[in-house]
Amino acid sequence: MRAPGCSNLGMVSRITPCDATLGAVVDGVRLAALESEDWKAIENAFHAHAVLIFPGQHLSADEQVDFARHFGEIEHIVPGVDTVPISNRRRDGTLYADDEGPMQILRGNEGWHTDSSYMPLAAKASVLSAEVVPSRGGETEWADMRAAWEALSIELRERVSRLSAFHSLRYSQARAGHTKPDDFGYGFSVEKPPLRPLLKIHPVTGRPSLFIGRHAYGIPGLPAAESERLLDSLVEDACRPPRTLRHSWSPGDVVIWDNRCVLHRARPWNHGEPRVMKHTRIAGDPATEGVA
Ligand SMILES: [Fe+2]
Repeated sequence: MRAPGCSNLGMVSRITPCDATLGAVVDGVRLAALESEDWKAIENAFHAHAVLIFPGQHLSADEQVDFARHFGEIEHIVPGVDTVPISNRRRDGTLYADDEGPMQILRGNEGWHTDSSYMPLAAKASVLSAEVVPSRGGETEWADMRAAWEALSIELRERVSRLSAFHSLRYSQARAGHTKPDDFGYGFSVEKPPLRPLLKIHPVTGRPSLFIGRHAYGIPGLPAAESERLLDSLVEDACRPPRTLRHSWSPGDVVIWDNRCVLHRARPWNHGEPRVMKHTRIAGDPATEGVA
């Protein structure tokens, strides 16, 4: 849903803020042939809104990578591959069964998370585009962790600002019922889970945000059960309107979001139908998304 207050970007594009504390829809721009003035406006909008939705772009894999490279270096989830499919459909057209590893990862991603927080270097941003969408469900949702921080009580801000949590894909997938972690190498092979502060200061805007999500666990200094309770309650309180945004995909849509201040999740759909998305992940800056 869009809110009033759209404005012109560059020569041809237009940005319309969504009816939430985050997100904007950008029309009138062709990402496959981005003008430098539009790029500047898009970068500014990215920092202001944290999630940008570009309807009807129909980018090829190479065009999507070119767009993503405006934001930084590509993080390779699969060695040497810039854009990976996020899909329940194999290349031969058949669909994965629910107990297969790729489906268990897709199921896990229905929990609120930020990409690659379990890696030594967390992601800066993610690009997702739609090729084939199911008849119902399969939306993506985002939640604004800047507004979530602002919504905390002073007491909770003070407590949280002194805490850190480990992040692990093994932890989050096990909690989601993943029984075949060896089917998916990326993220599972991290030997030393990174410890990250719960308060993150955005390296460009300087805005504070909560850095939480399903990969976070084991706050040092707290019993495991208390840590889990606190992290669960932070996510539950954070991911509520007006801090959440849902996008129902149409083929050709492209979205980019800022993993440094936004959580996201996929919504369920009937796994008898294919859902085929293209994903490109943009690496974080080791100075601000690395581990000390
Ligand atoms: Fe994700």
